[in-house]
Amino acid sequence: MDGNGRWAQQLGHPRTYGHRVGSDAVRRIVRASRRLGLSALTLYAFSEQNWARPPSEVEALMDLLREFLLSERDDLLANDIRLRGVGRIERLPSRVRDVLERITDETKNNRTMTLSLALSYGGREEIADAARRLAERAVAGALSPARIDEAALEAELPSMSVGAVDLLVRTGGEQRISNFMLWGAAYAELYFSPALWPDWVEADLYEAITAYQQRDRRFGKVRSDVASAADARGPTQATTAGAGPAPAIPVALGAR
Ligand code: IPE
Ligand code: MG
Repeated sequence: MDGNGRWAQQLGHPRTYGHRVGSDAVRRIVRASRRLGLSALTLYAFSEQNWARPPSEVEALMDLLREFLLSERDDLLANDIRLRGVGRIERLPSRVRDVLERITDETKNNRTMTLSLALSYGGREEIADAARRLAERAVAGALSPARIDEAALEAELPSMSVGAVDLLVRTGGEQRISNFMLWGAAYAELYFSPALWPDWVEADLYEAITAYQQRDRRFGKVRSDVASAADARGPTQATTAGAGPAPAIPVALGAR
């Protein structure tokens, strides 16, 4: 969700005003995602690197986050949305953490959509934290290093519990990933929107998803029609299957 600061500055306002208007865009897009039937939406709300912003901006973002959580609580419950934070949540000030933990607990049995807020989040940090936990288990004798593979590491990544990223959207015109869901985005379709985040409306989300639906996802394999044509010619060896039908898509919006 990039571009809040620039949006405000273009209008001669302080950056924090952009964050406030950006939080209205969050509400819009969460509602639209739920209506579309997305199973998972992960929003990059605050990166581990964002702590290095001016303290007043960090404070304003934390206040907004608390306000957002309090104001969304009833809607999350009413719409069967499970909320959770991913990232180094322990770094958040207690006034935010307390509300986040309470609503996470209150919504934990909701199933229709999982809304993950990436907070104090970094993709490298998440992988490093997972590696450390595996190492601790290995040292304790509970895990053989030989059993550390992609699946074992993936099981330690909180962002991956909703599945890998199908569509990764970045707003605000930049074309980079900025440490967002590095593991889960391995085969994500990337979509870059020039619109600044506060300007994002439902139609922008629909456009991103329409673009996604037109992509040909092969995951390193060959297209299924190509594979079955090869089959028809009668290879003796198993051919590579295609990607199959598009799944209900977890979407990740974000990155600065
Ligand atoms: C992203 O907008 C929002 C957060 C960090 C929460 P920015 O603050 O990065 O906006 P720009 O990129 O400076 O315009
Ligand atoms: Mg930015």
